[in-house]
Amino acid sequence: MVRDDREHWDAKHRALGTPIPQPPDALRGQTDLLPGRGRALDVACGRGTVAVWLAGRGLDVVAVDVSPAGLAAGAALATTEQPPGRIRWVEADLDGGFPTEDDAYDVVVCQRFRVPELYPALAAAVAPGGLLVVTVLSEVGDTGGRFRAAPGELAQAFGELEIVMHHEAAGEAHLLARRPS
Ligand SMILES: C[S@@+](CC[C@H](N)C(=O)[O-])C[C@H]1O[C@@H](n2cnc3c(N)ncnc32)[C@H](O)[C@@H]1O
Repeated sequence: MVRDDREHWDAKHRALGTPIPQPPDALRGQTDLLPGRGRALDVACGRGTVAVWLAGRGLDVVAVDVSPAGLAAGAALATTEQPPGRIRWVEADLDGGFPTEDDAYDVVVCQRFRVPELYPALAAAVAPGGLLVVTVLSEVGDTGGRFRAAPGELAQAFGELEIVMHHEAAGEAHLLARRPS
């Protein structure tokens, strides 16, 4: 990532108001699929809305993003919310791969950060019995574009896992997938 991109994301994160903890979009209505404890990885966590929500469910979370402003907003939110799970905020450029690549997690979330080159690392980060939660922009129901997934992209990329849910509509693709125990 070039420095301009980091500054772009920092400016975007600073311009937004106070974040609110929220479940990942792909998990809405299906939060019972989450384990009650364990370890979670939030890839490109932004301002930590999902990371703090996961910690609120009792998971210990590693939250990774390139933007110091996003991470700072997340850390401030965690202080306010005082979730029971711990959160480790990691500043890293994911263009260089995962900073935690030897680890496996019970929950791996990657929301609105589409880097197909990272799909194998995302799958590999899911522990046996663990859940992968992905949302990306999609060409389905939209006009297409550089950052959008082609139809079927997520189901194909994560075919080694058990697909629990795959939904593409209105310019977004959502996937829930589990690694067999
Ligand atoms: C659209 S936001 C999504 C944030 C969060 N996942 C969410 O759903 O609210 C994309 C995030 O990716 C981060 N990002 C962009 N390029 C990155 C990179 N090369 N390495 C790590 N994070 C990056 C940005 O800082 C930003 O927080």
